Amino acid sequence: MALFEWTDQYSVNVRQLDEQHLRLVDMINDLYDAIKREEDQTALRETLKKLLDYTAYHFVREEKLLQQYGYPQLEKHKEEHSILSWRVLDLRSRYESGEGVQASEVLDFLTGWLKNHIMNSDKKYATFLNSKGVQ
Ligand SMILES: [Fe+2]
Ligand SMILES: [Fe+2]
Repeated sequence: MALFEWTDQYSVNVRQLDEQHLRLVDMINDLYDAIKREEDQTALRETLKKLLDYTAYHFVREEKLLQQYGYPQLEKHKEEHSILSWRVLDLRSRYESGEGVQASEVLDFLTGWLKNHIMNSDKKYATFLNSKGVQ
């Protein structure tokens, strides 16, 4: 079973952002599978790096779109993204330096955070963007 099952409840009703979220979910599940298969550290590190790079890319795209349409809660939203980015960077560097942090811990943290963020924060811009004709 996948770690993160995508269902319509996660949709923010904006196609390009749903596609990016779905890609993140796929990458999360790929990393989960790689961990279960007990792939070697180099492969895991590379898969984790791709996931984190794509997360950063998604945040930039999402923030740009919200800025373009003048989303009133943009600053708060950006702050949430930067707190996550900071925490993940910290976990990742502790994982890479072998300080006892496992790839699965970084994965669990990111998965929990993303589910929560999509449901509680990203969902809030859905109506706003739709009202501006963005779908
Ligand atoms: Fe977001
Ligand atoms: Fe998002």
